[in-house]
Amino acid sequence: MTQGMATALCPGSFDPPTNGHLDVIERAEQIFARVVVSVIDNPAKEPLFDAAQRVSMLSDLTDSSVDSFGGLLVDHARDVGADVVVKGVRTVEDFEAEMQMAHMNRRLSGVETLLMPAAPELGHISSSLVKEIARLGGSVADLVPPAVETALKERFE
Ligand code: PNS
Repeated sequence: MTQGMATALCPGSFDPPTNGHLDVIERAEQIFARVVVSVIDNPAKEPLFDAAQRVSMLSDLTDSSVDSFGGLLVDHARDVGADVVVKGVRTVEDFEAEMQMAHMNRRLSGVETLLMPAAPELGHISSSLVKEIARLGGSVADLVPPAVETALKERFE
């Protein structure tokens, strides 16, 4: 990998995208020449927003290219020409899960994973808590971008 030339893949569920996700993506954009944001398309997980909606939201919110994938992350990383996978880490539990996936993905294809610590002021944000708060009528204004807040309000109206 040549410094400043690499392509980073930022994968995730993004159901919905949060301020925490966007912080990690924006910080990756500062480091890597090209960033691809990829939404997992797994209808079996019964996401609140389908993959096309999540891709559309992220496309409006980032300067990076955004797509979706349905198979193995390592296959998608190869398909988009990614040199590294970038994942945000908030907690020790995140770290343990991400370490296991990073080792497995490296074993599967040789792809490297870089773990980026969440910004301290955003480390409490998760998509599942955002959905729960929005569903129960609480404010998520400080947790997600305005367009996502609007989409959540429409969904739970
Ligand atoms: O935002 P999330 O839910 O933490 O994202 C998890 C995601 C989509 C990155 C992870 O589930 C994934 O990589 N899925 C693709 C299937 C795969 O490659 N599984 C083996 C991982 S070792």
